[in-house]
Amino acid sequence: MTALSMIVNGVKVSAETEDRTLLVYFLREQIRLTGTHIGCDTGQCGACVAHVNGRAVAEAMA
Ligand code: FES
Repeated sequence: MTALSMIVNGVKVSAETEDRTLLVYFLREQIRLTGTHIGCDTGQCGACVAHVNGRAVAEAMA
């Protein structure tokens, strides 16, 4: 498990999660922000894109 702390949409969030959890699952399942989706799972559709420090990141490509 890993302890995470981040600011999401201006709100500080802290939680423990499995080490290999993708940000999209953390956002959707642990803090219930469902605007980010899993689509193609190959980095082609953009459904999983989140902005991290002002940069768009497609997590399926990580
Ligand atoms: S799920 Fe399609 S780019 Fe991430």
